[in-house]
Amino acid sequence: MSRNRIVVVTDVGSSKIATLIADIDELGEIHIIGSGESLSNGIDKGSIVNSAEFIKSCRESISNSENSSGFKVSVVISNISGQYMDFKTEKDNLTFEGNGKEIDYTDVITLIDKVSEKIPRDNMKLLHILPKKYILDNDLVLDPVGLIGNKLEAEFNIITIKSNIYNNLKKSIESAGVEVIDFVANPIASSSAVLFEEEKDIGVACVDIGGGLSDIAVYKNGNLEYVKSIPVGGMLVTKDIAYRFKIPKEVAESLKKQLGIASKDLLESNEAVEIPSREDEQTIKIDRYDIAETIEWRLTEMLEIIRKELEKSGFYEKLNAGIVLTGGVANTPYIQLLAERIFEKDVRIGKPKDYRGFSDKFSSPEYATAVGMLHFIKAFKFNNMSFTKNNTNKGLNFGIFNKFFDKIKELF
Ligand SMILES: Nc1ncnc2c1ncn2[C@@H]1O[C@H](COP(=O)(O)OP(=O)(O)OP(=O)(O)O)[C@@H](O)[C@H]1O
Ligand SMILES: [Mg+2]
Repeated sequence: MSRNRIVVVTDVGSSKIATLIADIDELGEIHIIGSGESLSNGIDKGSIVNSAEFIKSCRESISNSENSSGFKVSVVISNISGQYMDFKTEKDNLTFEGNGKEIDYTDVITLIDKVSEKIPRDNMKLLHILPKKYILDNDLVLDPVGLIGNKLEAEFNIITIKSNIYNNLKKSIESAGVEVIDFVANPIASSSAVLFEEEKDIGVACVDIGGGLSDIAVYKNGNLEYVKSIPVGGMLVTKDIAYRFKIPKEVAESLKKQLGIASKDLLESNEAVEIPSREDEQTIKIDRYDIAETIEWRLTEMLEIIRKELEKSGFYEKLNAGIVLTGGVANTPYIQLLAERIFEKDVRIGKPKDYRGFSDKFSSPEYATAVGMLHFIKAFKFNNMSFTKNNTNKGLNFGIFNKFFDKIKELF
């Protein structure tokens, strides 16, 4: 196992907090070597609403990952999302005198710095500056480093988030006893886990429907073209079931997961389930048909909202690879058929891919963000993260995270 390539990611979702400890080997393979999970409390649609509860949930998730791996976690990379995330593109250029200059990383970093200075910081925090295209002396190039030219132009995707959302999230996760050295925006993370490069080329949207949020990323010609996070998720479905049948939310959640399907017409038989009544000793009977109908109504509404959002991107007609649904809600049986009806496009369920070890569990859609963060970090050829092995006096320090990472991450 390579000691310098261990990474810990913590996906703070509205429903669960999932921590993954991974080792990335020399070949770039991701080996998950530990994991922990907890029910998420105190965070709603990407914003902290009860810090004490949230800290407790984070601590539990991280501590479970420590118990499963034997590592003491001191540094994590986390995700961030929500309605207060903003996406835009910015351009800038550098010109060189004389017969041209060989472009090096410093030039690219200078461009990144120039673009970064243009971004208003009043109440926004910069999350990502991702290169979209480079033009060297009027020619489009994939990577300008090592090439000679007089004018380097670059276009970058910029993702920012409201500072108070960022600061509260960072402070709260850190109160759980770890340092957060970076954040990855949800839509970028989930896309990294489930999309194929060919899909990004021909046009695709990744839609991660979680408990409280739906995170959208649109790609065309290999480029990220649109990012959005909207406040709709599986908790609305659960609430509808609880409200309609007057049952506690926990019961509604388990009915939904065990017996729910996305379309009432696809039910093979309509048996009734009996559950204890809230008021008295009696049981109440609920038809599976009625559960499916409730789920179908709400999912239809959610998918229609998502379609409108995708249309706003201006790329809807260009999504030739269709739509990839992921996140916990993508587990709903037959959601693919319902979504195809609403989107009038091909839909597939996106499962996290390209990782090894520990358990198959993480190939389920609800782990797209967590596994995707690992893919994203891998792409940035990070150096190392700080770990200490349990039960050793001095601690087996794997090195302090190299601040160079901050620059490197922006280059890829
Ligand atoms: N088999 C299933 N059928 C229907 N819904 C499911 C199923 N499994 C999970 N879900 C729903 O998925 C949602 C949780 O998804 P996920 O774990 O991706 O959310 P999260 O990442 O915690 O939240 P968010 O990303 O919105 O902040 C819950 O609403 C849950 O009810
Ligand atoms: Mg999520």
